Amino acid sequence: MTERIPREFIQQLLNRVDLIELIDNRVPLRKKTGQNFFACCPFHDEKSASFSVSQAKQFYYCFGCGAHGNAIDFLMQYDRLSFPESIEALAKQVGVEVPKEIRNNDKREENFDALYDLMGEISKYYQKELRQAEGAINYLKNRGITGEIAKKFEIGVASPGWDHVLKTFEKDKQHLSTLGMLIKKDDGGYYDRFRDRIMFPILDRQGRTIGFGGRIIDQGEPKYLNSPETPIFQKGHELYGLYQALQANRQLQRALIVEGYMDVIALFQLGITYSVATLGTATTATHIKKLLRYTSDILFCFDGDKAGRTAAWRALLVTLPVMQDGLQVRFMFLPEGEDPDTLVRKEGKTVFEQRIQKAMPLSDFFFQTIAEQADLTSADGRARFIKLSKEHLDTLPQGMFKDIMFEELAKKARLSSDHFTTPKARVKATQRPTQNQTASPLQLAMTLLIQNPQLIEHLAEPIPVLDIQEFSIFCKIVEILKIEPKLTTGALLEHWRDQEESQMIAKLAQVEHLIPIAGIQNEFIDSLKRLKKLARAQKIEKMLSLAAISGLSDQEKQDLSALIQEDKG
Ligand code: UTP
Ligand code: MN
Repeated sequence: MTERIPREFIQQLLNRVDLIELIDNRVPLRKKTGQNFFACCPFHDEKSASFSVSQAKQFYYCFGCGAHGNAIDFLMQYDRLSFPESIEALAKQVGVEVPKEIRNNDKREENFDALYDLMGEISKYYQKELRQAEGAINYLKNRGITGEIAKKFEIGVASPGWDHVLKTFEKDKQHLSTLGMLIKKDDGGYYDRFRDRIMFPILDRQGRTIGFGGRIIDQGEPKYLNSPETPIFQKGHELYGLYQALQANRQLQRALIVEGYMDVIALFQLGITYSVATLGTATTATHIKKLLRYTSDILFCFDGDKAGRTAAWRALLVTLPVMQDGLQVRFMFLPEGEDPDTLVRKEGKTVFEQRIQKAMPLSDFFFQTIAEQADLTSADGRARFIKLSKEHLDTLPQGMFKDIMFEELAKKARLSSDHFTTPKARVKATQRPTQNQTASPLQLAMTLLIQNPQLIEHLAEPIPVLDIQEFSIFCKIVEILKIEPKLTTGALLEHWRDQEESQMIAKLAQVEHLIPIAGIQNEFIDSLKRLKKLARAQKIEKMLSLAAISGLSDQEKQDLSALIQEDKG
């Protein structure tokens, strides 16, 4: 959907809103120091103000946690809106209509509106049914669930019988079927999927009911029945309790991933309001990525038995590829025979949270599990330990955490860590000296341009072609600003939304370059001169090595000597 929103519209919008005002309405900003406004960061816990907002750049950045972005990002992060929702909100604020093109894109969603509405109606119906269902009420009471918590989690009941939902919502039969609320009989008729069960609605981020889990009252099989996948419900994406957790915590300090509906509910009731459950499926990378939008501290909670350990290991493997730097992942194992529901009711919040404090870091659980499969006291055991570890650690994204894990592996296997320099890291290591020399004028030019987009008018000549990694980004910045010279830094960044490079560009956007404002223009022009010189040097070097390998044509020889002359001059 995002591609279809006209860029120009977003651009205009970002140029019209005032980020200072937008943020100040939500997070009071302190008076300016230098160019920036400051506040305590709303995205992490802190006592000193590391959150800075620049009026000129229309860009915010937290020196503590790295949160950053433009007005759209702020609404996405702070008000938890989606990308199109943020644009809607900003448009409303400045009093403009979002162009039709976007409206049309929402058509697909509009069709789903009927499905969402119907699910909401069914949920209300189940809740109403619960009021007079004595057996179900007693069951919930016996399990310690208060009326208040039942209401918060919108718990209801599907009464015994084959067709309550079918009859009550008869005119929406087609939708009921699409939503998985009916099961088709061989003779073509239908009956209710959920019968005689306690009903737990599964809510999405906006609090809409998208599916149900139904528990048998007392004994029976299957114990839990879940909605099947439908156009509005994908099990591998959704987390039970996330909506309530986000409602209860503006800032989610951590997320505790448990297995059951009843676990989430009991934990919440006892004051641990940050737990979520997968829906009878294993944790997926999508689950983790979803949580990473709200917190960087993730805890998995499993039974202490063998099955629990196996499930935990599976969760660990899923997590490795998304282990970005700064993310903390831990594992806690409960005493056998307990689940979070029973344990938190027995121990209470404080003791349960002490268990959380003692949870095992991912690295410990990782090496401990591998060590169970390889004997570190023998040579071949150590080799096996290394092989098994490496297989999994290779799936980690490049970064500090990966480096640390490999160092740890080397330590545990008593090897020099040079053995594990990854191919990419090795290339970097050999290139480093030249990289540093060459990257700096380019980085300076990029930094100045990103922070002062109006400098683009001083870039008259075509940019010299450079053989440096970041060069293509520089070209893209220039290309954009040539067309739109009036962009702010924040609006410029919009072009890299959801792209890998955005992190690096954001870093450059807030780098303190210590050049006085009056000198910026000259410094920029100077950096361009140095780039040109650098490009020439690279070209000379290339031609010289070409000369050594295959010789040069007369024309090339002329060009080379001209270049060398220029370089001297
Ligand atoms: P558990 O069997 O551990 O149940 O299943 P529980 O949450 O402790 O439930 P209570 O306390 O007996 O009521 C954990 C989760 O696995 C899924 C459900 O999501 C459940 O919450 N599950 C379990 C199913 O989908 N189907 C089942 O038949 C059982
Ligand atoms: Mn249980």
